[in-house]
Amino acid sequence: MQAFFNGRYVKKDEEVIRLEDRGLTFADGLFEVLRTASGRPLFFQEHLERMIESSIELGIDFPYAIEEVRAFAEKLIEKNGLDEGELYIELTRGCDINREHRFPPKGTPPTFFMLAIPLRKIDPNNWKEGAKVVTYEDMRHKLCIHKTLNLLPNILAKNHAYAHRGYEALMFRRSPLGKYITEGGSSSYFCVSNGRLLTPEIDNILPGITRSKIINIAKEKGYKIEERRILLDEVLVADEVFLVSTVSKLMPIRQIDNRVFRAPGETTLVLMKLYEEVFQKEINS
Ligand code: PDD
Repeated sequence: MQAFFNGRYVKKDEEVIRLEDRGLTFADGLFEVLRTASGRPLFFQEHLERMIESSIELGIDFPYAIEEVRAFAEKLIEKNGLDEGELYIELTRGCDINREHRFPPKGTPPTFFMLAIPLRKIDPNNWKEGAKVVTYEDMRHKLCIHKTLNLLPNILAKNHAYAHRGYEALMFRRSPLGKYITEGGSSSYFCVSNGRLLTPEIDNILPGITRSKIINIAKEKGYKIEERRILLDEVLVADEVFLVSTVSKLMPIRQIDNRVFRAPGETTLVLMKLYEEVFQKEINS
């Protein structure tokens, strides 16, 4: 297996990352997860634009043009003989041998690497019967609009869910009106309530690529969509709830803590089918 590392292809077990990399010492960096199929990364432009916009905002140099990254990625996928899989991209602020919090001097090269890896294993029954999710406090910082490497709160949330036989965590924050659900540990979510589709507005959550595709598909189909804060109490009385992400696509939810839903719901099934069409179109484009 090979990885792409700072402009070259390396063996995955070769030691290439410096221990003083700010990605390791400070989690000072960004990542992206894309799907691959037929030798290509999917929805490439959208994912790279998200990463580049964040890198600009956080002042991390992005070392290549989008089309260069695409060519490197396609070659990496080919070298690994990967068909259906995941492309992981990481960008860090580079090395700092003194581990200074201060940004490194201008011209310090960023670290940029990519892995082409098999698709995560997900129990297919989750799509057929719906997944169980478990609520957990969203303990993250105020930079959740960016896909930063600081994933400890997500890791704790997801492992809390796994410990309770859940597939994913639904993270909540608190407001004077009560708990509201922000997103999953590594997914966005939607509720169907009285024929309307609800999803949180981008209020310190990740602007998910899949989320925005579902919104477009649903709008085209004539669904009423509300992007706003959604209280946990509202989620618990919704008709349908489903998760969305690059890796899981649309995943119906059958249980949140002790509340059980009929899953997959009618609207969820419609949107699962429509998203699959968009996905296949992207593969064939
Ligand atoms: N996670 N919210 C969070 C916190 C995420 O980490 C992700 C993606 C999403 C969904 O975003 P998108 O539709 O762009 O994949 C929402 C990836 C898949 C991961 O961490 O593996």
